[in-house]
Amino acid sequence: MEASRTQSINIGLLGYGTVGSNVYQLLEEQSGEIAKASGATISIKKILVRESDVPRSGAPSDMFTTDFADIIDDQDITIIVELIGGTEPAFDYITEALEKGKAVVTANKQLISQQGFYLFKLSQEKKTQIKFEASVAGAIPVIRVLRESMVAANLTSIYGIVNGTTNFILSEMSKTGARYEDALARAQEWGYAEADPTEDISGLDAAAKMAILASIAFHSTVKLGDVDCAGIEDINPLDIEYARELGLTLKLLGVAKLYQDKVNVRVYPALLSREHPLASVNGAYNAVFLEGDAIDEIMLSGPGAGGMETASAVVSDIVSIVSRRTPGFLEYPVAYKELEFFDGEDVISTFYLRLEVEDVPGVLASIASVFGDHQVGIQSVIQKGRGAHAELVMVFHPVAEKSFMAALKKLAALPDIKSEPRPIRVEGNGEQ
Ligand SMILES: NC(=O)c1ccc[n+]([C@@H]2O[C@H](COP(=O)([O-])OP(=O)(O)OC[C@H]3O[C@@H](n4cnc5c(N)ncnc54)[C@H](OP(=O)(O)O)[C@@H]3O)[C@@H](O)[C@H]2O)c1
Repeated sequence: MEASRTQSINIGLLGYGTVGSNVYQLLEEQSGEIAKASGATISIKKILVRESDVPRSGAPSDMFTTDFADIIDDQDITIIVELIGGTEPAFDYITEALEKGKAVVTANKQLISQQGFYLFKLSQEKKTQIKFEASVAGAIPVIRVLRESMVAANLTSIYGIVNGTTNFILSEMSKTGARYEDALARAQEWGYAEADPTEDISGLDAAAKMAILASIAFHSTVKLGDVDCAGIEDINPLDIEYARELGLTLKLLGVAKLYQDKVNVRVYPALLSREHPLASVNGAYNAVFLEGDAIDEIMLSGPGAGGMETASAVVSDIVSIVSRRTPGFLEYPVAYKELEFFDGEDVISTFYLRLEVEDVPGVLASIASVFGDHQVGIQSVIQKGRGAHAELVMVFHPVAEKSFMAALKKLAALPDIKSEPRPIRVEGNGEQ
């Protein structure tokens, strides 16, 4: 889409909630700066809402409509900004907008991680643009960095703290020793967690974001369903306490790896050395840590959510669309390779394990022998006495996950093991 110095650009805004109302405010308040940066006057012309007779602050009431046709059929509207969330009707609205050659900006990670590739292709066919910076890590411009600055970086790994809710909960547990349930209640009370936090705590929200990041970084299609994820519901404060004694910090990490032209993307709670740059990302902050042949390591961090922070990423996408006079690099396909996936079981990982065992002679020897039989090397063991049982806190040498999981299966069947063994991966120590 082309913009001249005197051009006026009209936007159709879908949704006037937390982010939508802030986009309106930002475009109003920063109109002078935005005009200088984009070379055009950008304003919202119409706003789609579900109910018309609700009092709303900010935009004038005659801007609101409950009929999508009012927006999509308006020839003056050339950019649709979708901020209603969810997959339906957002998918239909965006599809129709692209079909009509309108550019689209969205913050919708659910939609992009599931239907993004269809929409990217459609936008190319229609010679228009779709941008989605705000769908991952709020105000942090990670998609732009991956798409533009890292094109020659040959990225091999992405580690992401991409869910502010779980990072807040784990930070609280770590800081105060709180149980998971209490830290979640505090997150809800302070507005860092939804009333229904399932998507966040189960790792699904992070999985959607990691699918988007991996697709862009590795130039290959990774969808939400391709990402294995585990959440933080079963985290025990004891693990956080023992990890701290070992100099480790617990985070919910997204991990995307490219190895021998194969991809693996997972989300799981992981322990990081306190010296690792991601270990100091606390509270609701997000961070993305990139490793690549040409860049060594780069970390981007900042607010991962928030109405105004997310709106700022949306507005920067709008400006980028308006300023781009010809289809440039950003309009090239997100995924131009079709890489295969490799199985998580083939990854070499380091594990931490806390085991509740019967405090009887010979128990350590029988556990060591199970691990020895599976070629799993024990790096350190600390024994803690707790009531009638003893606790063993073990860290292992890097090992194929397949071997470690096979050993755990055998271990669980030993009569002296008193609780289900729940290992936690230790990341950031150079394993594959
Ligand atoms: N909030 C953040 O910090 C953040 C951060 C990153 C990305 N995002 C993404 O940004 C998008 C918007 O999030 P948000 O926090 O602004 O959500 P929100 O506060 O719930 O706002 C969504 C708005 O869209 C409206 N809406 C829903 N379905 C609609 C429909 N069919 N037609 C018209 N309006 C409809 C809702 O109206 P009702 O009031 O009638 O329900 C609500 O006002 C989501 O994709 C979200 O994942 C948000």
